[in-house]
Amino acid sequence: MRRPMVAGNWKMNGTRAEAGALTRAVAQGVDAAKQTEVLLCPPFILIPLVADLLQGGKIAWGGQDLNVHAAGAHTGEVSGPMLRDFGCRYVIVGHSERRALYGESDQLVALKFKAAQGAGLIPILCVGETLAEREANQTEKVVARQLDAVTNLVGIGALANSVLAYEPVWAIGTGKTATPQQAQDVHRFIRTKLAALDNGIAAGLRILYGGSVKGGNAAELFGQADIDGGLIGGASLNADEFLTICRAGG
Ligand code: PGA
Repeated sequence: MRRPMVAGNWKMNGTRAEAGALTRAVAQGVDAAKQTEVLLCPPFILIPLVADLLQGGKIAWGGQDLNVHAAGAHTGEVSGPMLRDFGCRYVIVGHSERRALYGESDQLVALKFKAAQGAGLIPILCVGETLAEREANQTEKVVARQLDAVTNLVGIGALANSVLAYEPVWAIGTGKTATPQQAQDVHRFIRTKLAALDNGIAAGLRILYGGSVKGGNAAELFGQADIDGGLIGGASLNADEFLTICRAGG
């Protein structure tokens, strides 16, 4: 049985006051009796504040990215060990905004995945196709290529200690959600592809869906056989909306 997960990706948003209010509201509203694992991923600079508020509670926190190096002359960067030091349990790697806006290659994302695990963090690996790729029927090819870069570097065994997120780029922040069937089809493809390498790992792997998930569409998406929760951008900045999504996780 895969434990559902709902992760909030705040992206580059939030003042200290906003982050504090949002974190408090989510912590108060989350139903600890539910099995869904809830995670908040604030911008780096807000992590200490969020960590202090969530300390000792049920909600986990994590980073949105990390550098592949542990320390040293990398001005402006943040490493996996630094995130661990602030109590992060997870870190997002390969978000489509990192890939598209900051030129992160499949190979670099694979190295980040490895660096995250090396630092004791659980990577949340994002994969997904652009609209042009979907229209050219390249969805499976693109997702397979993104996955292969990681499994070729770290081996299928390493995926046992990770989370995947399928995030079609055309659905991120656009209000255009993939239909539950469209999402399920890709989630199924991912699980089947990984099952060819290791059945047990594929069966136990959590695959989140991300891309314009809202309170109103979460339950149907999360009800699909291979969708184990969501990675939530815009809607994670509103406590009520995010909590509604968390409740839809089960
Ligand atoms: P969105 O973003 O929910 O605003 O579409 C999802 C994500 O980028 O993780």
